[in-house]
Order: sequence, then structure tokens, then C-alpha cells
Amino acid sequence: MTGERIGTFIQENRTFEPSEAFRARARLRSREEYERLYRESLEQPEAFWARETADLVFDRRWTELLEWNAPHARWFVGARLNASVSCLDRHLTTSRRDAPALVWESEPGETRTLTYAELHAEVVRFAAVLRSLGVVSGDRVTIYMGMVPEVVVAMLACARIGAPHSVVFGGFAAEALRDRIEDCGARVVVTQDGAWRRGRVVPLKATVDRAVAETPCVEKVVVLRHLGEAHAPAERHARDVDWHEAMAAADPGRGAPESVDAEHPLYVLYTSGSTGRPKGVLHTTAGYLAGAHVSTRYVFDLRDDDVFWCTADVGWVTGHSYVVYGPLSNGATVVLYEGAPNQPDWGRFWRIVDRHRVSILYTAPTAIRAFIRQGTSFLEQADLSSLRLLGSVGEPINPEAWIWYHEHVGRRRCPIVDTWWQTETGTILLTTLPGATPAKPGSTGLPFFGAAPAVVRRDGSPVGAGEAGLLVLTRPWPSMLRTVWGDDERYRKQYWSEIEGVYFTGDGAHRDAEGYFRVVGRIDDVLNVAGHRIGTAEIESALVAHPAVAEAAAVGRPDELKGQALVVFVTLKPGHEPSEAMRGTLAEHVGSEIGKFARPDTVRFADGLPKTRSGKIMRRLLKDVAAGRESTGDVSTLEDFTVLAKLREEE
Ligand code: WT7
Repeated sequence: MTGERIGTFIQENRTFEPSEAFRARARLRSREEYERLYRESLEQPEAFWARETADLVFDRRWTELLEWNAPHARWFVGARLNASVSCLDRHLTTSRRDAPALVWESEPGETRTLTYAELHAEVVRFAAVLRSLGVVSGDRVTIYMGMVPEVVVAMLACARIGAPHSVVFGGFAAEALRDRIEDCGARVVVTQDGAWRRGRVVPLKATVDRAVAETPCVEKVVVLRHLGEAHAPAERHARDVDWHEAMAAADPGRGAPESVDAEHPLYVLYTSGSTGRPKGVLHTTAGYLAGAHVSTRYVFDLRDDDVFWCTADVGWVTGHSYVVYGPLSNGATVVLYEGAPNQPDWGRFWRIVDRHRVSILYTAPTAIRAFIRQGTSFLEQADLSSLRLLGSVGEPINPEAWIWYHEHVGRRRCPIVDTWWQTETGTILLTTLPGATPAKPGSTGLPFFGAAPAVVRRDGSPVGAGEAGLLVLTRPWPSMLRTVWGDDERYRKQYWSEIEGVYFTGDGAHRDAEGYFRVVGRIDDVLNVAGHRIGTAEIESALVAHPAVAEAAAVGRPDELKGQALVVFVTLKPGHEPSEAMRGTLAEHVGSEIGKFARPDTVRFADGLPKTRSGKIMRRLLKDVAAGRESTGDVSTLEDFTVLAKLREEE
């Protein structure tokens, strides 16, 4: 088993200690301190989680921390709470009340700040709006919006009334949105006219209209007018509710928080797996909030006066945990940017950092590599003195990018945390802690509190130091997914059956002699393209739905910029010929079925695909072809050798 090598991994053996200035005011300052807390989190989890969640608001305390009927966990058993109260109400009685909760900036340059008191008032009102539309505790609400303050309002309002939200990334196309609405049976969809991206408007409302034409479960569509009259959506349907009108008419008296059980669903978030159907990852209230709260505080060494900018879209889990629940439950100031990093030029991020005095920046390796390509001139014009900590997430960060990030953005002053986690883990599980454990470029780090990772072979036996294996988690942790929405069988099979008795992450990894984990990438049929998780089976089923396509296989190819690029191999039905135009048509087709971010980078035509004698497509060989390398592995099960030879000829 070897993982896919992603990006260019130069050899880098240095370790990076935090500066004395950083360490001096850090929460944790030594590996010993980390070890002590880590041991406590595993050996006396009750004491650990009680103390570390002391500032979250519980209406009723838990009686038991964990009830584990493998593979089903219940955390904070018996507790009652409302997540929005810990994120908002609790700050109303402190100095955070009038401090900025959200600082928003749009691509055209508009800005808006909401204090905690203001955000609270908006959330209370929108909770009342949802209730007036008949949404009750347990009903699902799909949110399809851009990076505007109202998306946070909508999420927290759902949490406030106990209605699990399902945020769908605004880059998904109508079909993908429809499937996600249908799967969770949403009664209400919240959207906006459009959002800014690369100087253009993403027409969110029009996409919702196409999606809900085929989803009878949806009763109402709430539409935020965000762009102004010039961009007003063409159609208004009977099911549409105007955000501003509804907010003006709402009775804030109906916005009180619903006290829910610790295990009440907080949200469903769809992610790609190894089959064509996306999985609705279910996160519940207390355990998820505890994980988000505690990890944000320690991993980012977060303080009240920090200005925290996680550049992820709220449509991904990173946005859920580190734009919304983590930083807000800690009372920090969150920056939201609605737009692209290169608008109007590649200096935009650095101007945002300077304008809002961002102190913590959390972004993805693919973005860092895109900045590297632009040279350092924009960075040289920036001040960046407000930054004190940097983070990376979403894919392995190659040491080259790490060093560049450290030197040019962090100016050798800011520690970098490389955080490994997944939609399913809910929150960060592998990382360094910036004042306590030094960073090693290319290695993510050590287990976060409560996490019990291991690297094992297929049979579950642990590998030795430095040896590659499968990354698993040997114990449940509070923010773990509880099941797959509507498909518990898939939950058991996918995560808890691959390797006996443990949670399988789908990643390959190794661990060095000091206990640091290096995650090399997915070893299953999931790709990571520019930080977006894409299931090969989803791409393939979109392709074979096209009338010209007989068969299709999607694989990843190492890519300097995106980590992985998406390559599809297609055989056409009789009567259709390979051509440049056909390439474009098929790429466009995937874009319109799933979303533009999933458009193949390369479409290759083939007379046949390499298969085993039992008819299974040998993706491993296609990966080699896509990467332009020789196949070194076993090819003895290949049914027809000429197929492979032909594919190589066509390179
Ligand atoms: C997959 C999860 C984590 C939230 C955003 C992505 C890869 C994530 C790292 C990292 C190496 C990483 C893994 C993981 N991944 N962070 N720091 N180092 N790989 O969430 O879409 O659920 O994807 O992203 O392969 O399994 P996701």
C-alpha cells in the first residue's frame, strides 16, 4: 500500500519551534504539558471534558460522558442544551457583547460588521421566521447561499429551533442540490439571489428554482435579496418568502432557543464517498460543539481579541467548524469574505488581512500554491504584522509550500498548524499545538485531545515507525459522525467494517519515531482536487448518464497546483467519435451535473478500459497511465493486455 504522492515533496528535515514571544503567551507551552492533557483526555475523559467545556452553556448537565455501543456513540448522555446559546447568548453578558462577531467583506468591496449583540438579534428574528413558516424541531432546512453574514444567521437560527441544517456549497449544480434536498427531505430552503465570485454573479436562486421543481418535500424557499435591484431574480414563485419582509414581520418573542437533547441532530452535511450517492454525514449537538469549541481554543490558541479568518466556504465542514461553531462559541471575531482570492488581483487576501487586522489565518495548501505562482510582490506591499498564527487544512501540505507560507506570509514569526481531519470527524484530530509542539513541514502532527489514531495493516495490526499503513481511529471521539443520514448500514460498512473494531479514515499515513503523523492522502476512490473532495463514482455516474458514453473511469493525477487533477477515461457508444468538441461536451456535462469545481481536467478516449477477469475496472493502472508512469504493481489479473498498451500509445 502506498499513498498517492501529492504535490512536490522536497526533503525537509527541519523542525520549527514557536518563537519565544509566541510561546510566552500561549495556552500550552511544552510537549510535556500537551502530553499530560492528552493522557488525561484518554484516561480520565470525564474530568477532561467537564473542565474544558465549562464555558459552554448546558441547561441540564450530563450524567454519563459516553455510551458506546459500537459503532454507535452517545456523548454527554442526558445533557440538554442549545448550540446557538453557547455561540451567542452567553456573550451578551460579557464584554464580548459589543465586540464584532462577524466582519464581512464582499468582492466588490462592501463591508459590514455585526457585533455579538447584533448577530444574536438577527438569529433570534430568523429563528422566529422559520417557526412562522411551520419549521419545528427535527425538520431539516437546506441552506444554499454564499459567504454572506446571513448564511451564519440562517445556520444558527436552525440550531436555535432544533432544525438540523444541511448547507450545500453554492458551487453545486441544480441536480446535485436536488439530490441533497431530497435525501434529507428538507421542508424549507434558504437561499439568496446570487453571490459574487470572480467578478460575476453566481445565480443561486435560479439554481434553487431548478432543483426544487423536482423536490415535493420543499414547502417554502426563503430568498435573501443580497445584490440589489440590478440583479433581482427573474422569477418569484408562490413558495418564495422574501428574507427582509419576513424579518421585518417576525415576532422576536418567537425566537427563543429550544433546549434539545445532547444527541439531537445539529446538521447533515453531504460528502463524497466511494459510491455514486453522496453521504449525509450526521453531526449531533453536544459532542460536536464540544469538539469544535475545545479544538478551536487549543489548536489556534484562540483569545477574545483574535480576528480569525478561516477562508473555507461554509458549504464545507471547515466552514461549519471553524467559521461558525468553533470561533463563535469562543467569542472571537470571524472574518467572512465573499469572493475569489484573485479579485481584483492576487493581493486581495493580504489587503483583507491588513484591513481587518487578521491575527489567525487558516487556509488550504491549494490556495498557498496558487499564491506561490504569483510571486511575492503583493506580499511585499502588505504589512501583515497583525498575523500571529497560520493554519493549513484539506490536503497534505508539501514542505515547499509550508516553507513559503512560513517565510512570506508568516514572516518567520508565526507558527503553522497543519490540521488533519475530515467531514466525518467533525473537528481537528491531528495537529501540532502552536506553543507546545514544534512543527515538521509535511507532517501534520500529534493526536488532538480525545483522539486515538493509529497506523495499521489491513488485518488491523500496527505498523512500525516510519512504515506506511492505513490511518484508523481506535476509539470514538465526541465530534464523530453519528451515522449516515437515512443509511445506518452504509455508516457501519463504510467506516467500521473495513478494519475490525476501528474507524477507517480512508487515508494512508505513517508515523515517525517522535509520534508525528504524516498523512499521504486517500487510498480509496475519493479524490482531493484543489481541496474539494470528489468521489470518482459520482463523476463516473454523471458521465455514463450522457447519451454518448458507454463506460467511464475517473482517477486522480498528481498536480502541482491542485494536489490532484481529475482525469477521466471514456469509451463512447457506437455512432459517437472522439473529438475535441466531444471532450468539451463531456467536461461541461460533468460541470452541469455536479458543479464546475468537479469538471474533469483531462478527458481521454479509449476503445476499452483495463479490467480484471471479473470485469472490475483496474483504476490502479489507469492512475499510472494518467500520471505517465510505468505500472509497477501486479498486472496478472488484467484481462486484455492490448487495452493497456493502446491507452499508453494514445498519450
Ligand atoms: C480528507 C477529508 C478537513 C476538512 C476539510 C476536508 C484530506 C484533510 C489534511 C491534512 C493531509 C488532509 C484527507 C482527509 N486532508 N486535511 N492536514 N493533511 N490530508 O474535509 O472533504 O472531508 O476531506 O482530506 O485525505 O481524509 P473532507
